Amino acid sequence: MTKRLECIDAGSEYCPCYLAELNECIVCSQLQGKQFCDCNWRGVCIYQEYIWAGCKSKSTRKTILSNIIKKDMINERLLILTLKIPKKLSRELNEPGSYIFLRDNLSPSFFDTPMSIMYSNEMEGIIKLAVQINGPKTKLIQECKENIYIRGPYWNGLFGHKYIKGMHNSKCLVVLRGIAQAPGVIVISKLIQNNNNVTVLIDKGKIGEYFIEEYLKDFNITIFKKDILSNDGQNLLRNLISNQNIKLIYSGGSDAQHLNILNFIDHYNTEAYLAVSNNNTICCGEGICGSCEIEINGQKVRSCKVQLDVRKAIERRILHA
Ligand code: FES
Repeated sequence: MTKRLECIDAGSEYCPCYLAELNECIVCSQLQGKQFCDCNWRGVCIYQEYIWAGCKSKSTRKTILSNIIKKDMINERLLILTLKIPKKLSRELNEPGSYIFLRDNLSPSFFDTPMSIMYSNEMEGIIKLAVQINGPKTKLIQECKENIYIRGPYWNGLFGHKYIKGMHNSKCLVVLRGIAQAPGVIVISKLIQNNNNVTVLIDKGKIGEYFIEEYLKDFNITIFKKDILSNDGQNLLRNLISNQNIKLIYSGGSDAQHLNILNFIDHYNTEAYLAVSNNNTICCGEGICGSCEIEINGQKVRSCKVQLDVRKAIERRILHA
């Protein structure tokens, strides 16, 4: 039996989307071509919204030209981009797991590359992104001078949204490594807003820099810097997770790191919730192209749209790869 899925866009101004027009809606059974209502969505009826919109998808994400305010090359592989964007968009992007697509202003749309939001200033309409220069698309982004194309907002950059948003007045642990430090800043900010006590373990990883400290300096948090893969790092990670007061752990890093943390949770703190960065290959972000599709218990799931069960997502990628 297929499991009911949770779409990150359900109820947003981007719902219903293209998938509804194709009878492929992730949530609504009627917009999957069935003759009856069998959804678990508790917001405004997606089918009704679809009918009221004239049997069409609602608003779609636009590609806009954004001004580059600043480019900081931290080292030869790490670029911090500061962009001016509409305030509404910066507000929408000030959420855990948010990302946009970036493209240099001369290339066609298949140069779009997804990039996590590191920081968003809603009052000024400014965002910051950390770009790891890796291949042709990011090299072209590095060469942009005055402006750059962006498309968004998208939010499924992590799994376990409900744990992060629902965690209040508790102790939380955030483990970040390499370029995945960047989306960790908004995760930490959201946890602090909810009055949580946050401990952060950062590993500079392959990117070779601790580049988010500047964005954390106003938060009252405890920060450890360590090579997580070293013996010392593993001991520290195990000790931090073993603290039974830790109620939520967020892992930003590779799938191997997620699995490492999941194993510690299973041994030392079975009550803790786990949220993780989404490491699947994102290409369109709209549930259309299939590049992010994975199969869980025989069900095909487009992970750019669906909030996956964290444990199943990790085990499927690592253990059944
Ligand atoms: S990235 Fe295209 S379907 Fe998910």
